[in-house]
Amino acid sequence: MRGYLVFIILSCVFLYYVLHCILWRESTSWLRVMEMKRSPMLSCSLKPAFESLLSFRGIYPFMCTSDLKTIATLHESDKIALPYGVKKSVPDFHLALSRLQSCDLFPESDQLPCKKCIVVGNGAVLKNKTLGEKIDSYDVIIRINDGPVRGHEEDVGTKTTFRIFYPESVFTNPEDSDPESVAILAVFKPHDLKWLWELLSGITPKVDHFWKKPALNLIYKPEKIRILDPIITRIAAFNMLHFPTTFPKKEKPKHPTTGIIAITLAFYICHEVHLAGFKYNFTDKDGPLHYYGNTTMSFMSKNEYHNITAEQIFLKNIIEKNFVINLTKD
Ligand SMILES: *[C@@H]1O[C@H](CO)[C@@H](O)[C@H](O)[C@H]1NC(C)=O
Ligand SMILES: *[C@@H]1O[C@H](CO)[C@@H](O)[C@H](O)[C@H]1NC(C)=O
Ligand SMILES: *[C@@H]1O[C@H](CO)[C@@H](O)[C@H](O)[C@H]1NC(C)=O
Ligand SMILES: *[C@@H]1O[C@H](CO)[C@@H](O)[C@H](O)[C@H]1NC(C)=O
Ligand SMILES: *[C@@H]1O[C@H](CO)[C@@H](O)[C@H](O)[C@H]1NC(C)=O
Repeated sequence: MRGYLVFIILSCVFLYYVLHCILWRESTSWLRVMEMKRSPMLSCSLKPAFESLLSFRGIYPFMCTSDLKTIATLHESDKIALPYGVKKSVPDFHLALSRLQSCDLFPESDQLPCKKCIVVGNGAVLKNKTLGEKIDSYDVIIRINDGPVRGHEEDVGTKTTFRIFYPESVFTNPEDSDPESVAILAVFKPHDLKWLWELLSGITPKVDHFWKKPALNLIYKPEKIRILDPIITRIAAFNMLHFPTTFPKKEKPKHPTTGIIAITLAFYICHEVHLAGFKYNFTDKDGPLHYYGNTTMSFMSKNEYHNITAEQIFLKNIIEKNFVINLTKD
């Protein structure tokens, strides 16, 4: 009798597990997914100063449900795993996208073909420069991670068109929400997509698999969330920063910071790109890293996931060649 019961219980557990796995994998095929199409990219007839940096043409920066499979095969994205491609992760993209409502780039009412953009880095160099009003005057304002506007309006402005984030870096305080801004998830691992799907499905995500505790609530509405096409991050890594495609086994692979990803995005959607808040002073280890909070420079200099040297070279180069304008130069 007892053996019989144990057998039944074990069978149930096994069945539950099998069903769970099947449903998780297959859920994409029976989910009713809202068809979302790319909005047309208005073509700007002005030549951007950074044109020579654009190695791919007509890149639409966000993932959409309507042509996920086509996009996967474009530029060989299906041959590269995350973070820079979609190999083996198309179902995860599909799942996360099933909870979103749009992949529009700009609202339909916005018919400005040429856009002047500013990418606002989070560097302490922004402190007391009172650039807020100037920053707010751009057509498109791109901000990074949890760099706040609230409490720093005079220095960094109030408007946000796009904010690029990942699960470990997104705002969690509803006071930081801005109903006008579009939040863009930069995907580094399949769990990032699962995390987004879970949060938008009312499930509390597990916190393992993340290098830092991810956000357990989202302050952005599904219609204001987009997923960045990994091709943008790939271009940032290989074309902008010239990272090698493989790293020695004992080294952590390096990835671009959100700031460089944001600049790369700007190159593909703007005709003019300006920068503010991109500067690190490494001689001052105890100096502030950001224009907010208490993190010091030493935190960034021991970061193993980024190559700050390569980023500094890139920034210096694009500023010297006048591809972009550095607003934080006194
Ligand atoms: C910015 O200004 C405030 C108030 O005037 C001052 O306390 C602070 O030290 C200044 N910070 C920097 C980095 O200059
Ligand atoms: C960097 O920090 C050092 C030490 O505080 C300071 O002397 C130097 O002027 C700073 N450099 C720049 C470019 O701000
Ligand atoms: C920064 O440090 C000050 C003084 O130690 C503290 O009052 C403040 O709460 C800290 N801010 C953050 C964001 O941790
Ligand atoms: C970082 O980038 C620089 C410049 O491309 C390169 O010389 C250096 O070897 C890189 N460092 C690491 C740790 O990848
Ligand atoms: C922007 O200009 C400021 C002031 O001249 C300079 O300190 C900073 O290094 C520049 N930013 C970059 C990324 O070169």
